[in-house]
Amino acid sequence: MPPQRVRVLFVCLGNICRSPTAEVVFRDIAARAGLAGRLVVDSAGTGEWHVGNPPDYRAIEHAARRGYALEHLRARQVTGDDFRRFDYILAMDRNNLAALAALRPAQFPGHLGLFLDLAPHLRVHDVPDPYDEDAAAFEHMLDLIEDASCAFVRTLADGALAPGALR
Ligand code: 4NP
Repeated sequence: MPPQRVRVLFVCLGNICRSPTAEVVFRDIAARAGLAGRLVVDSAGTGEWHVGNPPDYRAIEHAARRGYALEHLRARQVTGDDFRRFDYILAMDRNNLAALAALRPAQFPGHLGLFLDLAPHLRVHDVPDPYDEDAAAFEHMLDLIEDASCAFVRTLADGALAPGALR
């Protein structure tokens, strides 16, 4: 039987800046660590305003400078069904975590939490919303997401995706 995949969903407000960036950066870093076939990665927003839209052009441009391709993504809104489909639901900030906690079914067996809490060495909890901010905010967002993605990939490689786990 093939090993079970770990399913990871990143969630922000609009699904056009932070969570699509996390989806692609985490997927790329996991692939470089040899975990591509062991993961399903997606992103969504708690808000509905941008459903169907591509990521914000600034998120696309800043990510492209670091070699990440975001332009093919389209925003969607998180649903209750996501709690059946994903093992890790990772919010970009505490506001979105609160919105997700309100949607969470009582019997959700997975992990709902803050993405940056998987990288405690960063000593910050939120990926700040860059939407109304400048280029530096998009670079800071990418720095945090790359750092936390590396930490989460290491955790998965040592634990849930280690040989023998989750089969
Ligand atoms: P995101 O950024 O949650 O990282 O996708 C935002 C995108 C759009 C809005 C807010 C945040 N907005 O208010 O439309």
